[in-house]
Amino acid sequence: MTQRIGIIGAGPSGLAQLRAFESARRKGSAIPEIVCFEKQSDWGGMWNFTWRTGLDEFGEPVHGSMYRYLWSNGPKECLEFADYSFDEHFGRPISSYPPRPVLFDYIEGRVKKSGVRDYIRFNTVARWVQYDDAAKKFHLTVEDLVNQRTYTETFDYLVVASGHFSTPNMPQFEGLDSYTGQVLHAHDFRGADPYVGKNLLLIGSSYSAEDIGVQCYKHGARSVTISYRSKPMGFAWPDGIREVPLVTHFRGDRAYFKDGTSGRFDAVIMCTGYQHKFPFLPDELRLKTSNVLYPDNLYKGVFWHSQPRLIYLGMQDQYFTFNMFDAQAWYARDVILGRIRLPDADTMRADIDKWRERHAQMNGSDDEIDFQTDYVRDLVAPTDYPEFDLDKVAQLFKQWQADKQKDVLTYRDIPYPSVKTGKMAPVHHTRWLDEKDDSIETYLSQKATSARSRTEEVSQKVEH
Ligand SMILES: Cc1cc2nc3c(=O)[nH]c(=O)nc-3n(C[C@H](O)[C@H](O)[C@H](O)COP(=O)(O)OP(=O)(O)OC[C@H]3O[C@@H](n4cnc5c(N)ncnc54)[C@H](O)[C@@H]3O)c2cc1C
Ligand SMILES: NC(=O)c1ccc[n+]([C@@H]2O[C@H](COP(=O)([O-])OP(=O)(O)OC[C@H]3O[C@@H](n4cnc5c(N)ncnc54)[C@H](OP(=O)(O)O)[C@@H]3O)[C@@H](O)[C@H]2O)c1
Repeated sequence: MTQRIGIIGAGPSGLAQLRAFESARRKGSAIPEIVCFEKQSDWGGMWNFTWRTGLDEFGEPVHGSMYRYLWSNGPKECLEFADYSFDEHFGRPISSYPPRPVLFDYIEGRVKKSGVRDYIRFNTVARWVQYDDAAKKFHLTVEDLVNQRTYTETFDYLVVASGHFSTPNMPQFEGLDSYTGQVLHAHDFRGADPYVGKNLLLIGSSYSAEDIGVQCYKHGARSVTISYRSKPMGFAWPDGIREVPLVTHFRGDRAYFKDGTSGRFDAVIMCTGYQHKFPFLPDELRLKTSNVLYPDNLYKGVFWHSQPRLIYLGMQDQYFTFNMFDAQAWYARDVILGRIRLPDADTMRADIDKWRERHAQMNGSDDEIDFQTDYVRDLVAPTDYPEFDLDKVAQLFKQWQADKQKDVLTYRDIPYPSVKTGKMAPVHHTRWLDEKDDSIETYLSQKATSARSRTEEVSQKVEH
């Protein structure tokens, strides 16, 4: 009987799994029957922007955490699909840091081309999973949200690709109950417009704090104060952005910090990260982890150790994104198709432990980049995922870190070479700091500013 594969989520990870199977089918392999369940009405996961916050039109928690004016925070050359280049999609080279709608277009372009939409049941949310050990089958109960119909289907393998940047980690601070300003999590931030002229407090010191901070500065916030728990990000912030130690408590509209200082704020945005949340999985199948580069109990970062027919994609903290999801999906596909045999449980455990030991010894971002590069290399090697030069990607990541450290306001203006085509990206027609319009039409238009003079301006700043 034909095997059945269930996939939960049609974001970049779930779409990578669909693309991996479709690629095998096009090369002449028989593939299993596949059904992908997506709770939103469209694909793209996080990249499918929504204005909604809280609950969606069906009363389900809104998945999206992205916001207006979000530009890629790493060079697109680091995430380029090895089987679908940016040049192929756009028909011409584009700059290294595109805004969200441009990246959504790119993600969508590849899956449109491979015709996998028919595998997806949209507006359908995974509710509960049960594994039948004797039959070696997963029973997946889902709800068709439009028709309010709940039903159960049976699968031989289950792929969980539901993302992990959607359920806020929301800390409590003394006095927040009576704080008179607005309090929200980055998950519910939808753009800088409401904060023009306002004094803003961001709690957290990672990507969300950095990006929301510089976006609000760029769009006209009066001041941005970033409160860190472990250590400051330490960029050379412009006047108008500063870092302070952690908040101790709030009184009225005032926040007090560990160094004894205080300030009055119109709004507090918790940039305090996200929880891995799988309400549809029973305890024994549920991944429980913080946001790390190698979560425990996942062989190859993918297969649930005690039941490897359960496959998790994209659950790592991420330097690599789209091409890492591909590497995972290709490997998982090959296991399902019987091209790769999983070893016994002890061997898998030993392999997980080996990666976790290295993980525990990492020191700084260069180590982390090398770690994830080696992880992706390990996955790609036995599959037919097109080769790409992972050492070059690692180099680009390190360069990106250095460029950002040099100037957090201008690093997005710097071009990087494509690992796939070898060609250098063009300099964008407008400086990131001056570009308040993130639409794909404006991004792709040839604006008045001459690209030549922009190229000269940027090349004076870039040493690589
Ligand atoms: C604010 C923000 C900015 C980011 N910026 C970048 C960036 O610039 N560059 C970059 O490379 N990465 C960025 N990322 C990382 C981003 O998460 C990944 O690029 C990518 O979206 C992860 O893909 P995914 O498919 O694993 O998860 P997601 O994109 O989160 O997709 C998961 C999908 O699963 C669906 N789903 C969830 N639960 C269920 C359920 N129970 N039933 C059915 N469907 C379900 C969701 O609706 C969603 O479509 C950013 C993340 C955030 C939060
Ligand atoms: N433009 C963009 O592309 C963009 C923008 C935003 C986010 N993202 C992506 O979104 C993902 C998530 O980033 P993130 O910054 O939201 O999460 P994150 O990287 O997991 O960082 C969470 C931050 O919250 C802090 N924190 C957690 N609990 C806290 C508490 N109780 N009190 C104070 N601080 C606390 C952590 O501090 P410690 O350091 O002390 O642990 C850390 O600084 C990343 O993959 C990132 O790339 C991208």
